[in-house]
Amino acid sequence: MVKICCIGAGYVGGPTMAVIALKCPKIEVAVVDISVSRIAAWNGDQLPIYEPGLEDVVTQCRGRNLFFSTDIEKHVAEADIVFVSVNTPTKTQGLGAGKAADLTYWESAARMIANVSNSNKIVVEKSTVPVKTAEAIEKILTHNSREIKYQILSNPEFLAEGTAIQDLFNPDRVLIGGRETPEGQKAIQALKDVYAHWVPEDRIITTNLWSAELSKLAANAFLAQRISSVNAMSALCEATGADVTQVSHAIGKDTRIGPRFLNSSVGFGGSCFQKDILNLVYICECNGLTEVANYWKQVIKVNDYQKNRFVNRIVSSMFNTVSGKKIAILGFAFKKDTGDTRETPAIDVCKGLLGDKAKLSIYDPQVTEDQIQRDLSMKKFDWDHPIHLQPMSPPASKQVNVVWDAYQAAKDAHGVCILTEWDEFKTLDYQKIFDNMRKPAYIFDGRNILDVEKLREIGFIVYSIGKPLDPWHKDTLAVA
Ligand code: NAD
Ligand code: UDX
Repeated sequence: MVKICCIGAGYVGGPTMAVIALKCPKIEVAVVDISVSRIAAWNGDQLPIYEPGLEDVVTQCRGRNLFFSTDIEKHVAEADIVFVSVNTPTKTQGLGAGKAADLTYWESAARMIANVSNSNKIVVEKSTVPVKTAEAIEKILTHNSREIKYQILSNPEFLAEGTAIQDLFNPDRVLIGGRETPEGQKAIQALKDVYAHWVPEDRIITTNLWSAELSKLAANAFLAQRISSVNAMSALCEATGADVTQVSHAIGKDTRIGPRFLNSSVGFGGSCFQKDILNLVYICECNGLTEVANYWKQVIKVNDYQKNRFVNRIVSSMFNTVSGKKIAILGFAFKKDTGDTRETPAIDVCKGLLGDKAKLSIYDPQVTEDQIQRDLSMKKFDWDHPIHLQPMSPPASKQVNVVWDAYQAAKDAHGVCILTEWDEFKTLDYQKIFDNMRKPAYIFDGRNILDVEKLREIGFIVYSIGKPLDPWHKDTLAVA
């Protein structure tokens, strides 16, 4: 029986290993983590992450061939294949701070593998890492090995949160990079055999190590670039009277462009896009490729511009001040169907409004008050350092009130902002919301999910990203 161990029981390690365990009943899969509370949650009734379909998969395999444990050394020592899926956040200090990937967690995992191994192993990079990380890992492992042979593979993960299980069940592709030596090719084949249990062979791509590592950064950069491109167009749409949804539809019909990932929004968020582009920028700079670095930097700049533009639009439409005004924030997660708030645009929008002294009433169906308060009090880039290891409750901000109902959030509010595209926000009773709000009542739709005309008929002043402006907004101060 092949034994797999995955170091890191997070958004990637947990779902990925659960699906491997489900699809490969003869493989024993152990997911290990230094976070005692995370492992306890994986073993309990309330899983540590919200992901549609995940609970079903976990309950089918847990205790059968899927185990969650803090006994890291034992499971690593016993495994034939060790996946490393630890966090690789942006460095906050020292060389490359604010751009380079922090490989502290990766390095400590690699050193631990070297210390406890007593049999040959395939070590798989599941985390997103800078190009050439495999070389560094190889050095750590081989310098510490006692006659033990390691093969390093790069097997980046392409799942998106909210659709992780369906992405894992039916991936567009699985990418495996390895050394072009007979041993490297043998290791690639061993990992291919795992995925071949459910992924068609033509969707399993094999490459050299560096291509696999770079492809992950490139894929995220291309996806994020599409969003920044359409968001840049949204600003031009507002200036000219074009409608960004119509423009997206029209350009997406070109099969060379394609229809997906062209939804204009308040900005992209999530733990990956910004971090991975910054990492890419840093690698370009280290290789003297300044123009290439600047090109990718622009994707982040436009994303920041989009978030600022949204805040400016709110403030300028409300007579240039939101001081003391109640604003309802509907949605805090970085996208629907997840409780994840890492790098969510809601943080920047809320901080912008708080900076103008607004009072916020926030509702998200999957995000806790504690998480929201913590996010709003945290410094940039601190979010992906494992603060869950030292649970802390920051003092609740008096300007921020977290509620468990959209109607309560909007009661007596001057404005409502939609920051996450949760389905339930599409079917709210907006007449009821309007009746209970201060007048003039504003709606700012940062996700383009609402029917603008219907809302205007009710009496709202509506701003929807990239849509033709309400005369009200045209008359208020120009937005940068
Ligand atoms: P996460 O923070 O949810 O999980 C990482 C886990 O690793 C944490 O639980 C942490 O306690 C644990 N950990 C850290 N150091 C450890 C060590 N030395 N030993 C044992 N456990 C340790 O992160 P994530 O979202 O699962 O991301 C993991 C990696 O996958 C990152 O490199 C990320 O860029 C990449 N990735 C993430 C996604 C996503 O959608 N979240 C998608 C594709 C790739
Ligand atoms: C992303 C990649 O899609 C995935 O392949 C990779 O493995 C991890 O990073 P994720 O961040 O989980 O996945 O979600 P994704 O669906 O890509 O959305 C990222 C952000 O972009 C969200 O804030 C989302 O709302 C936003 N987005 C997405 C848009 O604003 N418009 C779109 O058209 C698509």
